Amino acid sequence: MKVITLNDEIMIGQVIGDRFCALLQENPSAVLGLATGASPIPTYQCTISRFKAGDVSFAKAHTFNLDEYCDLPAAHPQSYRSFMHTQLFSHIDIDPQNTHLLDGNASDETAECSRFDALVEQLGGVDLQLLGIGRNGHIGFNEPADTFTQGSFKVQLAPSTLEANSSYFVGERMPTHALTMGVGAILRAKEIVLVATGASKAEAVKAMVQGKITPQLPASALQNHPNVTIYLDPAAASLLQ
Ligand code: PGA
Repeated sequence: MKVITLNDEIMIGQVIGDRFCALLQENPSAVLGLATGASPIPTYQCTISRFKAGDVSFAKAHTFNLDEYCDLPAAHPQSYRSFMHTQLFSHIDIDPQNTHLLDGNASDETAECSRFDALVEQLGGVDLQLLGIGRNGHIGFNEPADTFTQGSFKVQLAPSTLEANSSYFVGERMPTHALTMGVGAILRAKEIVLVATGASKAEAVKAMVQGKITPQLPASALQNHPNVTIYLDPAAASLLQ
């Protein structure tokens, strides 16, 4: 696992945005693994600028998102479908049909998870996966657990996740469950980049990089992947030895 500390989230976004663009220049049909939350926004902003400058096209690319809330209409402003539209998809030339998210409102959630996992495989797997990390060490919505998860599944959100994301749901009930890719599926990506910024992530970052590999800290599984780069700001890196 390579760990790189940069001055701030803007610099991190530029480096990762440039990596996404380089991959698409090399392979216009690349399969991109995308994330939501605050951490990926500077990466998406860099990517949009590079697209507007004519450096890159997403016309043949496919994207898969890590997770989606259950029981939240897709058109709700806080759904991850809406987030991706607002933060990235509406600004670039990607074919909406090629943007894949789990359907958190599916009547048969097990079938929906199987459909999603099969589609990732059918398209050859994820080439480059972008991740954030939760304060409790989650990746996607894989919360601390007794075993590492594999394929996509329905998860009950942990109290620390509910607390961290409640600011997005002021005056309304926050979803308590989500569909998420499993840790095993995330690790099948050929290359992984993870962003963590701010002091609130410092404990989780230390455990991910220097702790033992345990499903109680799901991001620690990344230690087993051959091509992971962790991008930190000084606050998130502050507890690393
Ligand atoms: P954040 O969330 O980027 O909004 O901090 C990351 C995560 O919970 O995975």
